[in-house]
Amino acid sequence: MQNVTLHQLRVFALAAEHLSFTKAAEELFLTQPTVSMQMKQLTKAVGLPLFEQVGKQLYLTQAGEILYESCQRVFSELGELESAIADLKGLKQGKLKLSAVTTTKYFLPRIISPFCQKYPGVELSLRFTNHQRIWQYFHENQDDFYILSQLPAHVDVTAHKILENPLIAIAPADHPLAQETDIPFERFAEEPFIMRESGSGTRQALEELFQKYKMQPNVRLELGSNEAIKQAVLGGLGISVLSKHAIALEQDTGWFAILNVQDFPIKHHWYAIYPVGKKLSVVARTFLDYLEAERPLIANEKKPNAKEIKNHEHPPQP
Ligand code: PGA
Repeated sequence: MQNVTLHQLRVFALAAEHLSFTKAAEELFLTQPTVSMQMKQLTKAVGLPLFEQVGKQLYLTQAGEILYESCQRVFSELGELESAIADLKGLKQGKLKLSAVTTTKYFLPRIISPFCQKYPGVELSLRFTNHQRIWQYFHENQDDFYILSQLPAHVDVTAHKILENPLIAIAPADHPLAQETDIPFERFAEEPFIMRESGSGTRQALEELFQKYKMQPNVRLELGSNEAIKQAVLGGLGISVLSKHAIALEQDTGWFAILNVQDFPIKHHWYAIYPVGKKLSVVARTFLDYLEAERPLIANEKKPNAKEIKNHEHPPQP
């Protein structure tokens, strides 16, 4: 392994993540033969095959999986080293890695733009996925911090409340229940329902409500995206439950009715969380301070202005 280069490990990690040399090549702006050559040299250095091809599908071998896990640790350490050096220099620069639940898509990208303009040296990587995946990343210590709604009872986390995330019941505007008030939960439960995928926090919250009534939702369709659910609701396939923020842009169109159902909205909050004891980098701390300071602005769904954002100076941590 002495001759293995960081570059080879980077190429390998991307090929392993996508299980595709072509995708790794695209992301790294390399040609596919270059990636194949790098992987050939790496395989030789390791002394065992790293990938195997079954039909058209590429798989990691056991050695490949072990190497992939090591790569994740190595790159995470290197990222931390980079941040630690930037912190020592008192610089607000370096990588900031965040994972957030899909419901935050409706405000996070909008508010990070002024932050990035103010701190151009910050390289931000933000991925949106569902609740279950966020926990996986949390346990693998993949990011600086994580944004989600449901706090676990069994894991010690440091949590900062960011914003309310009410879950509402929606239907097309011409739905028979649209004009009703005080709709009993039992009546709501009869309707064909469009459900988020398993692993979604929105789904989990709704299932807990159904459990409270000892009932089962009448699921007509399962979809892994809030946007697809909105389209399916508009198409008349059923009703659903989404974050109120997910329909903010459609609010004035009159396309959706927010159903006035017993026990709704389901009260939720977004939290920024990280493991207890984790030392945030200066950049992560600054971004967290920014999120907390801009809370009123996010809640009012206004567009922040780069010139107006406050200076979230934070001294380097000892
Ligand atoms: P999710 O988001 O449904 O995409 O998991 C839930 C949440 O807001 O925590």
